[in-house]
Amino acid sequence: APSSRYEAENGLVSQGVVESNHAGFSGTGFVNYDNIAGSAVEFKVTSDVAGPRQVTLRFANGTTANRPLDISVNGRLAVDEQAFAGTGAWTAWQTATVTLDLEAGENTIRATATTANGGPNLDYLEI
Ligand code: GCU
Ligand code: CA
Repeated sequence: APSSRYEAENGLVSQGVVESNHAGFSGTGFVNYDNIAGSAVEFKVTSDVAGPRQVTLRFANGTTANRPLDISVNGRLAVDEQAFAGTGAWTAWQTATVTLDLEAGENTIRATATTANGGPNLDYLEI
């Protein structure tokens, strides 16, 4: 099936802001997580089938410190502290792929910062 892209700026942002000051993003911008633990972006993601799916997150981290995110699916922690390492610059975007067990139909995927540094800047989720 063709991939579907969910722009972070269209997600439900909790303790973060949509910005566009670092080039290279898809869509109209990216989410700048507040630099606190608990800042989050939530996506409503539709899967045509139930079961494990590859889910890609595009991000930038212009620092040298890992900015881990807890990834939950439908309210359950699915990936504990997925790493988002430094990418060299805020304009240097990379992808990280995780495997998530999804339900057929709509799923709620939430990516929550676990450290006081907050998350990386998040561009999109793709499935
Ligand atoms: C800088 C950068 C932001 C980033 C922030 C951070 O302010 O411009 O895009 O989110 O650093 O450290 O989280
Ligand atoms: Ca930030």
